[in-house]
Amino acid sequence: MNLRTQAQFHLGFIRSALAIAIFAGFAIGAHLAAVIGLDFPLGKGFYSFIQIHGHLQLVGWTGLFIIGISLHFIPRLAGIPLSHPEWLNRILWLITAGLATRAVAHSILPYVSTPAIFHTLSVVVALSGLSELAGIILYIALLLTSIRATRQSGKERPALQSVKPYFAMMQAGWLLYAVLNTALLIHMALTEAVTVNQPWDDFALNLFIGLVLLPVAFAFSVRMFPLYLRLPAPEWPVNKMGLVYLFFFALQLLPTLPPFLSMSPETVFFISAIGQCGKSVVIFLFVWKLDLLLRRREPWTVHRKFQPGPERQPTRAGLPDYGEFGRFERLLYAAYLWLLFGAMLELLTGLATILRWEMAVSTDAIRHSYLLGFITLLILGMAPRMIPGFIQKKLASTKLVGATFWLGNAAVICRIVPLLLPEVLLEKMPSLVLLSQWMFALSGIFGLAAVSCLAVNLRRTAIDNSPPDKANSAQK
Ligand code: HEM
Repeated sequence: MNLRTQAQFHLGFIRSALAIAIFAGFAIGAHLAAVIGLDFPLGKGFYSFIQIHGHLQLVGWTGLFIIGISLHFIPRLAGIPLSHPEWLNRILWLITAGLATRAVAHSILPYVSTPAIFHTLSVVVALSGLSELAGIILYIALLLTSIRATRQSGKERPALQSVKPYFAMMQAGWLLYAVLNTALLIHMALTEAVTVNQPWDDFALNLFIGLVLLPVAFAFSVRMFPLYLRLPAPEWPVNKMGLVYLFFFALQLLPTLPPFLSMSPETVFFISAIGQCGKSVVIFLFVWKLDLLLRRREPWTVHRKFQPGPERQPTRAGLPDYGEFGRFERLLYAAYLWLLFGAMLELLTGLATILRWEMAVSTDAIRHSYLLGFITLLILGMAPRMIPGFIQKKLASTKLVGATFWLGNAAVICRIVPLLLPEVLLEKMPSLVLLSQWMFALSGIFGLAAVSCLAVNLRRTAIDNSPPDKANSAQK
């Protein structure tokens, strides 16, 4: 019999994710977008800043959120407490210290001309990778030991079984990304460069997006949406779809390993395009099966044994809550529309390569459709819905949830649409050039404002002393 209790939610991961996003990840992104949009000269450190922004956003903003939520959610899904809850602080500090060191040391590096200081800073940047790697190894070890305990107890729950391939991809992705990141930083120090090797950096980023972010977002959606959005129970082969996704993603990614790229680019792009098309179709199928956007099937509640009586206060139409979490569902719908948009752009890119169409879709637009459109809006929508319950508080403001919806979508539209406007249109309408430049320049400010609204809301929620049960009647 297991006598240990579940560990309490560790808010530190969310605090760090928000702090890194606001003071570094989104802030640097806003600076980069303003420089590009308004045609300012690119400074010495510009390409280093792009890499710092990308890394902090992936591991700091989305990664720390995922780690915090998964270490709370997976043990509960498995029905077994964390084997070593005392590791939580170690994981948080190792990764946060690594990210903070990288942000500071790598930003200064391009401006240093004294060799001794340059070498010292390069070593510090490489050490930041090692610190993150150590934290990530500990995180994966903690998840694995906890999941193994479930298996040994012989009580593996079907809820966990169905999403296991997705969590397995996530763990493999974390480890591979952290190892690659460290190796690239050591290589950067040894070659006395101020940026990491670009083709390998691209490979590592795509690996993280495809193997960590998308699978984990799918797994959380499958398990949490039926409850939070009253969707149908996931009675389709969720785990098989995960494996098909993995097959096509591997087909897309593996040929783009830099050594293959330099050998035979044509063949590499052709094989990778097949994987890209297959992966996009799997994403369309996943969204169809999830039934979030069309709601074709009955919600899981129709099969409930005990239906609520007439005395129960009616909830919002089609949803299980009374509005106490704000209209968070709009962020989730928008996130999934941006996911479909990204998948459609990928499908077009893949088809264009296979069929040799004269067409190029910006990879930056695809990347930010997934990262800013899908993952960020998903976090902005899920955080106010989940975290108050985890810490047993009521959400401070539903209005701020509404604000994140508008600001978040404004950020995505301004960040992506200018990259997709066709050249012919821009040539015919010079005013559109100016408009798209300003949109791009302002995209970061909107993103920063959206994340700041979430941070203020969660902070006010965490310090509020009123008990959660009053929340249902208090509509702000
Ligand atoms: C409104 C918010 C954002 C703005 C203004 C922004 C801006 C930028 C800019 C200007 C670049 C350089 C593009 C280029 O190479 O031409 C970039 C790259 C990148 N961004 Fe963002 N970004 C935002 C949000 C995000 C988010 C939320 C994520 C991840 C969760 C992210 C991840 C990345 C990555 C991975 C790269 C590529 C880095 C590399 O090449 O090493 N960005 N971003």
